[in-house]
Amino acid sequence: MNTKIIHIKEGEDFDVDLKEAGQIIKNGGIVAFPTETVYGLGGDALNPSSSKKIYEAKGRPSDNPLIVHISDFDALYDICSEVPPMARALSDAFWPGPLTVIFKKSEKVPFETTGGLNTVAVRFPSDPVAQKFIEYAGGFVAAPSANISGRPSPTCAKYVIEDMNGRADAIIDGGDSEIGLESTIVDLTGESPMLLRPGYVTYEDLKKVLGRVDVDKTILGVVSNERPKAPGMKYRHYAPKGDLTMVKGHNEAVVEFINAKLSEAKNAGRKTGVITTDENAGCYNADSVKSLGKRTDEKAIARNLFRVLREFDDEGIEIIYTECFALDGISQATMNRLMKAAGHKEVNL
Ligand code: TXA
Ligand code: MG
Repeated sequence: MNTKIIHIKEGEDFDVDLKEAGQIIKNGGIVAFPTETVYGLGGDALNPSSSKKIYEAKGRPSDNPLIVHISDFDALYDICSEVPPMARALSDAFWPGPLTVIFKKSEKVPFETTGGLNTVAVRFPSDPVAQKFIEYAGGFVAAPSANISGRPSPTCAKYVIEDMNGRADAIIDGGDSEIGLESTIVDLTGESPMLLRPGYVTYEDLKKVLGRVDVDKTILGVVSNERPKAPGMKYRHYAPKGDLTMVKGHNEAVVEFINAKLSEAKNAGRKTGVITTDENAGCYNADSVKSLGKRTDEKAIARNLFRVLREFDDEGIEIIYTECFALDGISQATMNRLMKAAGHKEVNL
């Protein structure tokens, strides 16, 4: 397949290009596009064969449902059989933006899009390019993150092209993603709202709006006998090609432990990497030391994580150690992704 690359430049009129991209979706094709969280791989959410194409292009198991992206609130009434009052409250607070909400689906949404579930995940993104594209595509764009299944989600066009060139009909290059981590997912179909995937909209933010929010216990670790409620969260994810281990403990102990492990790995002839913050960036003797930003800047840390994981791949790094972050606020999302990227490999000092 010949993939058309569409460059969107700030200040230039991109209407014509997005109309063309929207038409590809209407014709049953698939197009990667930027959003404020990560890049998505879009197809017509109401067309079963488009959803099949998305699964194929990603190499994704088809029991893992897709998120339907909309460009206005009222679109919910077409694709959901029930829109509870809490949806309006969430929308007023966080839409358009990095929040996905699970509803009971209407008959319009094919099971190919929802992975066989009776529920549908919906997001109204804030990125202006995404909004226009969705509108021109007919208003309902099913899109997972635009990576090959299992790899870190792409936060810039370079990595979308790496994974999807030859697999998608077009790729829209809209620059770097502002947030860099996938949306928060909250399920409104149960007795009380439940957080299924942490993100930029935090548990604390949701509680302020909804009062009570339950949390899927699997989001921050393996819980025996429990499956994550978002089907996609059960798969190993976001993984770099190198072997990643998380190290938890007091700062000095963490630095000492990681340096000892780095020496071992180097002696064995392996290429090493460390994920740290500005404060500790000078402390490690790895082949590649990557800072995510200042330790107090949890937005920067979240934004830079996936890019850094991909850069290690570019550099051929084989053994990676990472420091850990707080378990609340936006860092909860960073830790959730790190745990998955590390396949839960963690050392507690
Ligand atoms: O920020 C994002 O959400 C990005 C951008 C492109 O919008 N999309 C994204 O999609 O992260 P994806 O497919 O990589 O992750 C979707 C997650 C999966 O874990 C999936 O299992 C869950 O949402 N999900 C989708 N529909 C669901 C449903 N009906 N019930 C429970 N979980 C659902
Ligand atoms: Mg994904």
